Amino acid sequence: MQVGLEAISFDVPKYYVDMEELARARQTEPAKFTLGLGQREMAVASPCEDTVTLAAGAAQRLIDTYDIDPTSIGLFIVGTETAVDHSKPVSSHVHGLLGLSKQCRVFETKHACYGAMAGVAMASDWVLSGRAQGKKALIIASDIARYGVGTAGEPTQGAGAVAMLVSDTPKLVAFESQYQGYYSSEVMDFWRPTYSKEAFADGHYSIQCYLDALSGAFSMYRDNYLSQNPDAAGGALDKRFAACLYHVPFTKMAKKAHQRLLECGFGEPLAKDDPRQAEVAADFSARVAPALRINAQVGNIYTGSLFLSLFDFLESQGADNVGKCISLFSYGSGCAAEFFSAEVLPTCAQVMAQQPSADILNQRVKISVEDYESMLMRLPRRISMPPRPVIRSVGISVGPFIYTGTSEHKRRYLVKPHQDKTEAPGAQQAAR
Ligand code: HMG
Repeated sequence: MQVGLEAISFDVPKYYVDMEELARARQTEPAKFTLGLGQREMAVASPCEDTVTLAAGAAQRLIDTYDIDPTSIGLFIVGTETAVDHSKPVSSHVHGLLGLSKQCRVFETKHACYGAMAGVAMASDWVLSGRAQGKKALIIASDIARYGVGTAGEPTQGAGAVAMLVSDTPKLVAFESQYQGYYSSEVMDFWRPTYSKEAFADGHYSIQCYLDALSGAFSMYRDNYLSQNPDAAGGALDKRFAACLYHVPFTKMAKKAHQRLLECGFGEPLAKDDPRQAEVAADFSARVAPALRINAQVGNIYTGSLFLSLFDFLESQGADNVGKCISLFSYGSGCAAEFFSAEVLPTCAQVMAQQPSADILNQRVKISVEDYESMLMRLPRRISMPPRPVIRSVGISVGPFIYTGTSEHKRRYLVKPHQDKTEAPGAQQAAR
């Protein structure tokens, strides 16, 4: 039986800031953010957008674009590390907003940026086990990354959601479920205490943790692959991948990751003046950089970052790589990581052509650094402060799902009627 991705879609906030402008406002050389970190723009969630509205927006686009019958979804998981409640999962809010079937297993997963990957892996195993009985799994990665104004992490913020349909009738990629590599280790590289809306990171250490996890997960993948394909021993295993996709907290991180992957093949780390560095740089440009375009315009979306890069790859290079294999690496701080691979399917180009990423990104509005800061000021930084109703915020541009504020300790959402659709079955009333 084949299992893989049948469809993929994404949503981003309506606003973004330009990285050069952010750098100037922080008295920093713009090249540090654009070249040093590799970011061009940073998505900014308004007070009317949260993890729920972004997740619902991504999934609604997927359902509308591909005419998915909501009753065909038997498993629905939201992976997030920026949930809106300690008890009620984001998935329940979204389940209601989308009007999904009640005969559906619904829950939320958390492990930093690995949360959605855990959902995809669980969905894949669910299908392979035969328990899906023809039903599909909807997995959404949704997050808002916040480190705070003026912190080292600020230029690596972002927000967005990716929705994916996993089934036994994949049209985009088929997972090579027989080959997997995991790595887990207790490290304190990045965390967000339950009282804080903003994350803390031991930034440079987190980069080392990410790279160690990549080596560890790839090593297990390689052992797994070679035990099933002993004839492949001796060659650099990464050569079987037409593209190498990584978790992307900022696009320069993918460059560091690819260097590490190739070093695993060389069997040693390369010195800065090693002549093989030219080969590494060219290989990065060919097999990694083309799928980092959207990430550079959105920033870190935590659980969805790897899958945003996958969307980019499928849209821009899927047609040229049919039948070829790609690698995917997911990293979640704390830490858990997974290295796996997938084969690009012939229907990929036709499916991806139905929702160009430019249509989604071009709807965004650029705001000044001052406006971004004032939007942040309207959000509570500590969870002891319940958010006030925000629907009266004048002039805020919103998507189809709107967080209208919290009243009586309940989060309230509105569904904006769009096209031929009226209010979704689970839509709640606006805050009074
Ligand atoms: P920093 O210390 O401000 O930056 O923080 P830096 O001094 O390391 O400079 C960054 C790069 O810019 C360097 O490049 C500089 O050389 C370069 P590198 O040497 O690394 O290749 N640079 C310049 N380039 C051109 N022109 C210039 C210039 N100046 C400097 N003028 C850091 C950077 C990433 C640490 C910070 O932003 C941070 O703490 N970010 C948050 C943590 C993070 O993203 N970690 C990534 C790995 S962990 C992960 O991915 C998990 C995560 O997604 C969370 C989860 O799992 O849930 C974060």
